[in-house]
Amino acid sequence: MEGAAKLEQDIKFRNMTLADLPDVMVIEHESFTLPWSEEAFRNELTHNHFARYQIMEYHGEPIAYAGMWTILDEAHVTNIAVRTAYRGRHLGEKLLRRMMEWAAELGMVRMTLEVRVSNTVARALYEKMGFAPAGVRKGYYSDNHEDAIIMWCELPRSQSETGEGSESLW
Ligand SMILES: CC(C)(COP(=O)(O)OP(=O)(O)OC[C@H]1O[C@@H](n2cnc3c(N)ncnc32)[C@H](O)[C@@H]1OP(=O)(O)O)[C@@H](O)C(=O)NCCC(=O)NCCS
Repeated sequence: MEGAAKLEQDIKFRNMTLADLPDVMVIEHESFTLPWSEEAFRNELTHNHFARYQIMEYHGEPIAYAGMWTILDEAHVTNIAVRTAYRGRHLGEKLLRRMMEWAAELGMVRMTLEVRVSNTVARALYEKMGFAPAGVRKGYYSDNHEDAIIMWCELPRSQSETGEGSESLW
């Protein structure tokens, strides 16, 4: 079987649970200079009714996650990260697409996120997925006072809303 098709078969999505937190913390620390604490994730999963988190598994092992808050008709991405060893294989793109689909299914009409000016990889991913810059938060990141670029994307309407067939919108 071709590599890409094989990888596709080996990937699964599911909701994040408290049992995932040790794996999530490993990925979080690999990925961010200002990592969230385990307590912050715990709070998201147990107390924040707006929060929705997905785990991407490869052969049953969590290798990536993403989260968003769904507020009114807007989805705010809180974080997205892929284990270092698995980057560059279009898995981050697949995960973001999954979050966009999920948001649309939940009735969200647009999605927003913040990204460091220097994070050229993430910015390229977001632009590829249809996000456009809409503003800057000056000195947003407390470690180096780097600016955040605010990006927005309009989400296609979900199939359940349009009543269309099973053909994917994506
Ligand atoms: C950002 C991140 C989630 C992307 O995931 P990934 O699996 O490595 O990226 P993908 O393989 O899905 O790449 C998708 C697109 O991203 C961009 N991209 C990926 N790697 C890139 C690189 N090294 N240089 C430039 N652009 C890159 C490209 O546009 C790529 O599409 P293309 O290959 O068709 O050109 C991942 O690198 C990561 O976890 N980074 C650390 C955490 C982080 O910065 N999160 C975002 C916070 S805002």
